[in-house]
Amino acid sequence: MTDLPPQAIRKLAPGKLVIATHNAGKVREMTDLLSRYGIETVSAAELDLPEPEETGTTFVANAELKALAAADLSGLPALADDSGLCVEALGGDPGVYTANWAETADGTRDWMLAMTKVEEKLAALGPDISRSAHFVSTLALAWPDGHVEWFEGRIEGKMVWPPRGELGFGYDPAFVPEGETRTFAEMSFAEKQANNHRSRAFAKLVAAVF
Ligand code: IMP
Repeated sequence: MTDLPPQAIRKLAPGKLVIATHNAGKVREMTDLLSRYGIETVSAAELDLPEPEETGTTFVANAELKALAAADLSGLPALADDSGLCVEALGGDPGVYTANWAETADGTRDWMLAMTKVEEKLAALGPDISRSAHFVSTLALAWPDGHVEWFEGRIEGKMVWPPRGELGFGYDPAFVPEGETRTFAEMSFAEKQANNHRSRAFAKLVAAVF
């Protein structure tokens, strides 16, 4: 777990909150989590907010810049997630660059390409290499006056190949969480929601701000 900056917690009043992401998979998961607490959500895409460039080198820095940009432009509290896959044998890669590994020459994202890159790098290290990995989610909750809070969740698991399952998003088909035999992409939405890095970070947010 990374060290989060010291912080003073502010309570989140009922009302509207921006989900500061253009990733449809994240919007679905975060909307579901927030709706349980009477929070009305609107996504950055629905508000037509620009996607800020992720110039940070840590999950905290990138989550914060996304949340602050959305809060500033919308005048509403905003919640951003910066997340990634950290593969032990690859020294924690792709880490903060998890989305970048999916980038294609024409600027689109190809998740099969990204999962294949991870697999090729693991395969190059030999058949006995550890396939342990974890997902990290850092949530940043920002207010228009510049106040920010951070919450982090993590789930351990292992990389599998070939990818399995049609559900979820991103690297879900190649990741089996601890205590499971199925990949995230073989689990229902409710099953993945019950136990993943983002819902674990969200549980910490709930305990602090509601
Ligand atoms: P970012 O947070 O926008 O930098 O993107 C992180 C990337 O990590 C996403 O685009 C996904 O590909 C990947 N990722 C984050 N959370 C998950 C997850 O729950 N399942 C699969 N991939 C994920």
